[in-house]
Amino acid sequence: MKIVEVRHPLVRHKLGLMREAGISTKAFRELASEVATLLTYEATSDLETEEVVIDGWAGPVATHRIKGAKITLVPILRAGLGMLPGVLELIPAAKVGVVGLQRDERTLQPIGYYEKLTSRMEERTALILDPMLATGGTLIATVDMLKAAGCRRIKGLFLVAAPEGLRALEARHPDVEVYTASIDERLNEVGYILPGLGDAGDKIFGTR
Ligand code: URA
Repeated sequence: MKIVEVRHPLVRHKLGLMREAGISTKAFRELASEVATLLTYEATSDLETEEVVIDGWAGPVATHRIKGAKITLVPILRAGLGMLPGVLELIPAAKVGVVGLQRDERTLQPIGYYEKLTSRMEERTALILDPMLATGGTLIATVDMLKAAGCRRIKGLFLVAAPEGLRALEARHPDVEVYTASIDERLNEVGYILPGLGDAGDKIFGTR
């Protein structure tokens, strides 16, 4: 499985700021979006381009354009919405499908309660957005949904990932590429990533 831990100084610096215990909602929200922009830069580095000759100021000039790649962003409710503005900074024309999942009290498995994907998923590369890849349960269920809709090329962008979640994803969907600002140490007994960021959704929405 392709796992890219983006170790750019800006990413490390910004993620470090996000780990501060007393961080404000405003700062956390801004940094989540900024790190998402930097992850997007990495995750799109293999997009194919084609040469196009255009009328430049001094005559015809050969330029490059991204070749027919249709990208769909898939933020997972609710925390994934915090990464959306940053990703849209670089891919402003991207279509956005949204998924919501919650844990079934009986089976403890994530089940989808909301799914509004874009059309023609089989033609698109999906970028899943979720700040935290913890156990991997939600991510795996999201990938299941995207594949059921015909999507064949899937990448996930995460601010922080736990080794346990990466292993679970690799076991179920080894074709999915992962881009993260940090692979952290481990999960605690209630499924939070250590050292992690705490509850990313609460910090983005100011509900803690
Ligand atoms: N979700 C979070 O918001 N934080 C974690 O550490 C794990 C899951």
